[in-house]
Amino acid sequence: MSTFFITTPIYYINAEPHLGHAYTTMVADAVARAHRLMGDDVFFLTGTDEHGQKVERAARKAGLTTPEFANQVAQKFRDILPELNISNDDFIRTTEPRHYRACQELWRRARDKGHIYKGKYEGWYCTVDEVFVPETQLKDSRCPICGNTVEKISEESYFFRLSAFQQPLLEHYEKHPEFLTPDSRRNEMLSFLRAGLEDLSVSRTSIKWGIPVPDDPAHVMYVWFDALTNYMTAVGFGDITPQAKTQFERYWPADVHLIGKEIVRQHSIYWPAFLLAAGLPLPKRVVSHGWWLMEGAKMSKSVGNVVRPQDYIKHFGLDALRYFVYREMVFGQDADFTDEAFLTRYNADLANDLGNLVSRATTMVHRYCGGVVPAGDAALLEREPEARLASLADSVIKSRASWFESFAISGQLRSVWELIAETNRYIVTREPWAVAKDPARAGELHAALYAAADTVRIVAELIRPFMPGTAERTLRMLGVEPAPQSWVNLKRGDLAPGTRLGETAPLFPRIEQTVEELRKMADDPKPEAPQPPGAPIPPGAPGSPEAPKDPGPQAPKPSGSQTAELSNRISIDDFMKVELRVAKVLAAERVPKSNRLLKLSVDVGTEQRTIVAGIAEAYEPEAIVGRTVVIVFNLKPAKLMGVESNGMVLAASPEGGKPMLVGFSDLPEPGTRVR
Ligand code: MSP
Repeated sequence: MSTFFITTPIYYINAEPHLGHAYTTMVADAVARAHRLMGDDVFFLTGTDEHGQKVERAARKAGLTTPEFANQVAQKFRDILPELNISNDDFIRTTEPRHYRACQELWRRARDKGHIYKGKYEGWYCTVDEVFVPETQLKDSRCPICGNTVEKISEESYFFRLSAFQQPLLEHYEKHPEFLTPDSRRNEMLSFLRAGLEDLSVSRTSIKWGIPVPDDPAHVMYVWFDALTNYMTAVGFGDITPQAKTQFERYWPADVHLIGKEIVRQHSIYWPAFLLAAGLPLPKRVVSHGWWLMEGAKMSKSVGNVVRPQDYIKHFGLDALRYFVYREMVFGQDADFTDEAFLTRYNADLANDLGNLVSRATTMVHRYCGGVVPAGDAALLEREPEARLASLADSVIKSRASWFESFAISGQLRSVWELIAETNRYIVTREPWAVAKDPARAGELHAALYAAADTVRIVAELIRPFMPGTAERTLRMLGVEPAPQSWVNLKRGDLAPGTRLGETAPLFPRIEQTVEELRKMADDPKPEAPQPPGAPIPPGAPGSPEAPKDPGPQAPKPSGSQTAELSNRISIDDFMKVELRVAKVLAAERVPKSNRLLKLSVDVGTEQRTIVAGIAEAYEPEAIVGRTVVIVFNLKPAKLMGVESNGMVLAASPEGGKPMLVGFSDLPEPGTRVR
């Protein structure tokens, strides 16, 4: 079994976790999960970087002692991990004794080999980024990273002989082109290396909140010497117990340090130089990603333009957030986080594509095969379009191992979504709802349902690293218990005929509100409005368990008479107040927990609307997609089982029978007025 050790940067605790931090952790999580599924022995590390002047200052500002402050913020970074469903194996804090031990051990080794010496440092220091900025890199006398003013500092300091490592590092880059990706970063670092390296000041006497230098406690270690060492601390470096030694040998060197693009130099030049100086193996890869931007600016606490992951999780669910960040950011490049893009991806990719596919496939097995996976006849499964679907599934399955080598995460998800779209098209082509009407075609029906259900299983397996909750729910809906190493031998056809499906539940209900409406709701959260008395009840709904038990005093009373009394007749003007229009059904799904209600998305010519109709006992959702119906266009909206209905579909409602939709023999355009 191969080992796989992946790390995130350890996060500064002067800010609370935001989406930028969450992104790195979520990417590392997907990679770690994929390696576990492939059977690797994975160690996934994240944590907090707690020393330095900025933390001392922030604590003072908060009126807390530095350790109290550190505990408080570190806890927030720890707490967000389960909220993001992160599968880390360890959480390291640089204030832990194990880390002091490791840093001091690394220092001693580098010092004893003559790579650390005492001198005097004078330079421009940025307290925001905690770096000395070489004079040549200042931008208008300000820090080139954050734009803040820099301070001239002069103090006794230990220096790390970085200059001695120019050649060894160039050789390492040459020998290991994979050491730093993407190539753009590698080229940047190569130019930096070729320009020559200056020795690095690695201690401070002006700071107290840090790790004391061995044998000279007036100095504390420079924050990057301290921080980078965390990667080895967590796997036992500096601990002399036999278990720690075994662990270190097992996992070091790390396979991947995943980082944002602003800390590439520290990870791909300083860190390997420290390790070379101490005679230790170098990490195999440093992989850097781009930034999440808000209106073009890097999302960061100092700018104050951060997205709080929790807000999106609350409104859309965790896996919607996970999917969005993996899919929207082309790995390595910057990406803008916009609510519009989020909502579009949610409705298009998750509600329409994935959600509909899972619901369709499982519902049909329930409906036509009593909830048991049918056997698909091998010969039927080899025809078109089955063969095309199968070959697409095979090629996506085959590429899965390379996904996590290249980190081309967004493209990986695109290929899974192509498979989803193909499966949805396949179902439409095969029309199982029509085939089911003819008992002589049972073989065809079973083959189609098997192909669809087995492909849904493949899709669920493939999205496990990205959306573990959704994937596992889907597998359970298919009656499959998610296996810890299911990628080892993932292949089509492993859904056993005879498997009893679990309960089907919607994954991503469509969101009908606009971004503006959602923002208003977030600013002004109100409990769901109660069902108003006399609210329109869709055809077929009276008496249904979900209909209001007592429609209230204003509810229309059934007349009981087939012939309206003359005195009860209405004028043409009254009738014309009711705007009846032609609409086309674009999508349909069952309303959760309701036997009678279908949620329809209809094209009314000028817009799309959601209408809830009590026709589920008479019509399959799949069967009415594409149908032309008549709706009451100007009805006040009402909520039914928590779903807002914007209009009413007309149907004949025979006494004791099932509703029958009003339709046309010639098809008018959606939006046409009916009178
Ligand atoms: N403590 C150092 C890292 C030491 S690692 C030995 C540090 N911490 S940080 O809190 O500033 O976190 C930086 C990391 O957070 C980035 O490298 C990146 O992984 C993530 N991000 C923070 N803001 C980000 C965006 N706006 N976009 C994407 N990721 C960003 O640097």
